[in-house]
Amino acid sequence: MRLPWEAPMDVYEAIEKRRTIRFFKKGATEEQLRRIILAGSKAPSGGNSQPWEFIVIDDPDVIEQLGELKHQLNKTFKPGPGQTQQDVEERALSQKKGFANASVVAVCTTQGQSSAGWLAVENMSLAAVADGLGSNIISYWDEPKKEVEKLIGLPEGYQLTCVLKFGVPEAEVAPPPATARIQLAP
Ligand SMILES: Cc1cc2nc3c(=O)[nH]c(=O)nc-3n(C[C@H](O)[C@H](O)[C@H](O)COP(=O)(O)O)c2cc1C
Repeated sequence: MRLPWEAPMDVYEAIEKRRTIRFFKKGATEEQLRRIILAGSKAPSGGNSQPWEFIVIDDPDVIEQLGELKHQLNKTFKPGPGQTQQDVEERALSQKKGFANASVVAVCTTQGQSSAGWLAVENMSLAAVADGLGSNIISYWDEPKKEVEKLIGLPEGYQLTCVLKFGVPEAEVAPPPATARIQLAP
């Protein structure tokens, strides 16, 4: 893990190293979380409206319910090619299990401003890498999204962009296969 007094990570290095991390040994420290949220708040926004709210969710019961709502949502997926219904269930359940040990932040914006929310999410994801942490976007839609918004006490006029999990990665995640990424011609 990078210590705060060490040289900050180059942004290209953070972009290269960022991978979705779904399982954690432990969450972020309060100091790390503050830095990450501050990085989110530096994102660009239309007319500099800064339309976001970052809600730190530290109530274990609420985190449990966020995991269960995601489990139920992903259970509704149709199996892909070569997948069984049981594969879908296992993957849905692993989305819930991934909330264990994570620090959880809901990123919200005023209605219609979710693009600024996503820019904040990317800043936060890269800031987490610079702090030696992993992150995972958790998205909700339809009725479960409304339930999450109620659960986290979203202020009137705001909508959920996504829930972000942060923490010390449980294991290294391999880089994606080169074919999955655009390659620049030499
Ligand atoms: C809009 C959006 C929604 C996502 N929703 C989820 C999600 O609900 N659960 C999850 O585990 N990952 C989610 N992800 C992460 C993607 O699965 C991941 O970014 C993708 O597989 C590429 O892997 P990488 O982030 O390691 O490069 C989401 C990513 C984006 C951009």
